[in-house]
Amino acid sequence: MIIFTNDNNPNVLKLVIVSKVKQHSYTVKNVAPKDSSDKLPFLKLPCGTKIDSVSAAIQYLWSNENQEIDIFVNQWLEWDSTQLQPTLIAFGSSGSYDNSHKPKVWSLLNNLNLRLSSNKFLVENDLTTADVSIWVTLWMTVAATDIINKIQTEFNYIEEWMKNMEQLSIVQETLNEFKIERGFKSLLSMNAVSWFPVNSYNYEKTRKLTNNEENQSNASKEKELEIITPQEIESIKKQWDSPTPLSMIQPPHTVLPKKGERNILITSALPYVNNVPHLGNIIGCVLSADIFARYCRQKNYNTLYISGTDEYGTATEAKAFQEKMTPKEICDKYFDIHNDIYRWFNIGFDYFGRTTTTEQTEIVQNMFLKIKSEGYILTDSIDQLFCESCQKFLADRFVEGLCPRCKYPDARGDQCDGCGHLVNATELINPRCKICSKTPIIRSSTQFFLDLPKIESKLRNWASEVKKGWSSVARSVAKPWLRDGLKPRCITRDLKWGIPVPLENYRNKVFYVWFDAPLGYISITKKYTDQYEQWWKPENDVNVNLYQFMAKDNVPFHAIMFPATLLAANQNHVLVKHIMATEYLNYEDTKFSKSRGTGVFGNDAKETNIPADVWRFYLAYIRPETQDSNFNWLDLATKVNSELLNTFGNFVNRALVFLENNFASQIPEIKLRDEDVNLLALIQRELTQYNASMEEAKMRDALRHILTISKLGNQYMQSQQPWVQIKGNDNDKQNAKTVIGLSCNLVCLLSSLIAPFMPNISRNLRSQLGIDASTYGYIPEKVSILLSSGHKVGKPSPLFTKIDEKQVEQLRIKYSGQQQNEIDQKSESCPEHDISSLESLIMKQGNIVRELKKKEPKTVWQPQVKILLDLKEKLSNLQKKK
Ligand code: 2FM
Ligand code: ZN
Repeated sequence: MIIFTNDNNPNVLKLVIVSKVKQHSYTVKNVAPKDSSDKLPFLKLPCGTKIDSVSAAIQYLWSNENQEIDIFVNQWLEWDSTQLQPTLIAFGSSGSYDNSHKPKVWSLLNNLNLRLSSNKFLVENDLTTADVSIWVTLWMTVAATDIINKIQTEFNYIEEWMKNMEQLSIVQETLNEFKIERGFKSLLSMNAVSWFPVNSYNYEKTRKLTNNEENQSNASKEKELEIITPQEIESIKKQWDSPTPLSMIQPPHTVLPKKGERNILITSALPYVNNVPHLGNIIGCVLSADIFARYCRQKNYNTLYISGTDEYGTATEAKAFQEKMTPKEICDKYFDIHNDIYRWFNIGFDYFGRTTTTEQTEIVQNMFLKIKSEGYILTDSIDQLFCESCQKFLADRFVEGLCPRCKYPDARGDQCDGCGHLVNATELINPRCKICSKTPIIRSSTQFFLDLPKIESKLRNWASEVKKGWSSVARSVAKPWLRDGLKPRCITRDLKWGIPVPLENYRNKVFYVWFDAPLGYISITKKYTDQYEQWWKPENDVNVNLYQFMAKDNVPFHAIMFPATLLAANQNHVLVKHIMATEYLNYEDTKFSKSRGTGVFGNDAKETNIPADVWRFYLAYIRPETQDSNFNWLDLATKVNSELLNTFGNFVNRALVFLENNFASQIPEIKLRDEDVNLLALIQRELTQYNASMEEAKMRDALRHILTISKLGNQYMQSQQPWVQIKGNDNDKQNAKTVIGLSCNLVCLLSSLIAPFMPNISRNLRSQLGIDASTYGYIPEKVSILLSSGHKVGKPSPLFTKIDEKQVEQLRIKYSGQQQNEIDQKSESCPEHDISSLESLIMKQGNIVRELKKKEPKTVWQPQVKILLDLKEKLSNLQKKK
């Protein structure tokens, strides 16, 4: 007998243990899932017969004389394959535990525990295949701490039974022979070759069923009827053959808004020119906005996506000083760096501009004069920090010190990352110049202010209307501003590198980032087209919808300063409707840091040999939509290998290869049967949710729906087995045609849905499909036929390559920055290193304290606070020394 299995599939243990108990001779052969058109594992008998249901195979191997016992054993085996395994797979096969499945897991365990409370084994008091089967399933997945804890605390009978099972010498021996990794990896491995539909949906109808499976199938049919409504079925039948959907219109050379159409203006926060953006910056701004813009274009909305570099200010002056160049040269150099990075990531701006242009100067100066004439500009003498050693006034971001509110040691001169509050640079305790670390002095000078209190009520009215369209992060950052009352905000500085104030006697002052940068959006649009006012001041009932993408630190620019400026100008400017802010992305549980060499920066990404589209996929997958998220190399490899390769890529490739081999690459005739309509109804749900998520720019969710569609496709192929049907009678043959025709249609739908995320992959796929690869395809609302019968498909080839775990380990080391002991050695001579590692420790400890304070009593968090304060003291001592 031969047992065929794929790598790390725990179900093979069931076959082996039972073979051993019953002393059968057997060999085990490993095959790759893609090389097998069969479900895995399966048992091949000497006579050539294959038994591909694990339950059927172990029953065969066990072959009990006692029929009565068999009935109970069958019941438990069925419970394993239709309840326990699908639930556990749903719980964990995405590579993390999805808590929404927990109640189901607990209720199943409860059943099992109840059963074991009266029996030593599941059926009577003897070991049967039921014990082997269920034990293997559970043992392979109890790697989840939550499940282990639950079993230990609440399900003692299960715990004891599991221990007894594990002690059986045959079990021990088998576990030693097959070093199968427990937890996610097992779940993924089973999921890749599921021999049952994971969601218990029934596609089983046309297959020849064992008795066991027949029951299972009936049970799941009932379930299915209860989930798919007759209306859904009706709609699918109607819409499937309805006239072919719209196609994507190629945008004109210059996109302008039009009356009666959806006009979408998209910006991503203008990055400071002299910082090389890291992965967190990229997903926070330009990439998120790009995915959204691509989606909008595939919906035929009039879409304009602009961004550019923010080039004025002290940071540029400082960099110029450091690199012995003029500020202008620095801007040119770094503008090119930004441009190259974004081009490599395939960010499709309609225009990527910069703020050092005559258009910007004109717009900023005119806006200032206009607002002044409307009475919204104040002057006041202010105290500013002046660094005597650098002979400069220090811009807010160039001073750091202890936050006067929360005592966070690294509050910036404008805002504190510790408590999130605004800070006045002169109020910082122990301020230090970021350029030279010396203590600055206070000097006073006259500056211009935007009278925010005067505009406050207008701003508040506007915000209360549009706030619902902001992301949750944007709302929570803007809230304290609007709640606590606004103060006049200084918009000029005594610097050289900036746009001069257009007033006699003040020409040595320049506009500050708060006022200057957001107006960059308008001046950059002017660079794109001299009709830019159609976007920013539309007339004649043209409706422009402004979406602005940014990380959370930029929310005050977009929720307060920019709209206040535009409202004060009173010229009917378009104000932002959708502030799409993200939380922060951490790198391997710490902060990105250019100086420490920690993290992947834009220019590093292309050196990793990982294609841009794969970066885009993973960054969207971990997009910090509702809370900080974490970049992790191993997770990247797992997600790519399981979701892209095994799920998406596998489905696409299987469908196309089968079409090539059996139908000469031509889409065959599709005749929808009930099971096909059912599948389409499920796909329709995913499509509807994909559209809804994308409309709200929740790309992380949208991506999940794409993956579910490919998962459903895989399950459908797996259960329909066109490779068997094609060899059957005429009816079977037609079924095979339908299954493949339908699958190829799903592939075509996927090629459009994935395009905003992975434009290159989409084009590649579309050329494999033999359709126009110069467009990404219209994103439809409704599932319907996209490739009709007779359409000739191109040559299939794999879309993705596997990411090797060794490769990612090397990359992880490469971008992990200084090793800890290296830091320790260097710290004597170079306090900089120690300072940055302390800073990162403080950040981590701060997070721990914050989490604990949310739910634990003081006795628990107090000691942690003490650790935090010690760290802060160490840091401030070090800084004094420096
Ligand atoms: O904080 C920043 O990154 C600045 N360059 C401003 C960005 S927001 C602006 F563009 F409105
Ligand atoms: Zn200084």
